[in-house]
Amino acid sequence: MEGKVKRITTRTLAEMKARQEPIVMLTAYDYTFARLLDEAGIEVLLVGDSASNVIAGHETTLPITLEEMIYHGKAVVRGAQRAMVVVDMPFGSYQGDSKAALHAAIRIMKETGAHAVKLEGGSAVLESVQRIVSAGIPVMGHLGLTPQAIYQFGGYRVRAKDPSEAQKLREDAQQLAEAGVFALVLEKIPASLAKEVSESLSIPTIGIGAGPHCDGQVLVLHDMLGLNKAFSPRFLRRYADLATIVSEACKRYINDVKDRSFPSPGESYD
Ligand code: KIV
Repeated sequence: MEGKVKRITTRTLAEMKARQEPIVMLTAYDYTFARLLDEAGIEVLLVGDSASNVIAGHETTLPITLEEMIYHGKAVVRGAQRAMVVVDMPFGSYQGDSKAALHAAIRIMKETGAHAVKLEGGSAVLESVQRIVSAGIPVMGHLGLTPQAIYQFGGYRVRAKDPSEAQKLREDAQQLAEAGVFALVLEKIPASLAKEVSESLSIPTIGIGAGPHCDGQVLVLHDMLGLNKAFSPRFLRRYADLATIVSEACKRYINDVKDRSFPSPGESYD
């Protein structure tokens, strides 16, 4: 087994929380980026249903299908040697019958080779979480601004600012932890609430727009690489301006083809 890289597991993440080492998660949807992110040292690759937005161009995450998530999951798994790969369960695959939820989770695990699934919600999906965990499948939870409920929320505002929603989130977090989720994404909630929840749980929390006190952070790859200039929420830090780089490269290519400077003799065969 010489040269084999040690895989990040649920246990690794628990140990990282215990020694207060921040966990770094990014979304990934294809083989090429998965390989780059894995080589750069990202610990968890989330095959997010945000693929529905950034890959397929839908307005929300609701339309993406189980088949499409499996397709993206397979590609990411092929590119990840060290990172743990978590695949989002798409809208409609786990909110109803918990047996159907288990069936969908089993398909994701069998067909993609991923290491865990993620699903959104608290008490309403607890039976599904329990059934999937009982089958030996690691489940990551997701509370706060859960994009699959966007039409119920009526917008992308910060969640759990009012005391009753904050209390519901605390209770959901506790119930999910008791049901056996190995980590919990907290999206767009006040930093003070995320701190409190993170300190109250023994499992790691991964924040997005949830302040600095979570046990880890996640961003959507296309947003942090600056591929989508139209999307600029307060929590987003852009680490590159790939939109400009791609656009300038394409313009140079167009010019070179139009003025026949590409391909040159050196780029042609005798
Ligand atoms: O689908 C996704 O990208 C996510 C992250 C925002 C956590 O669920």
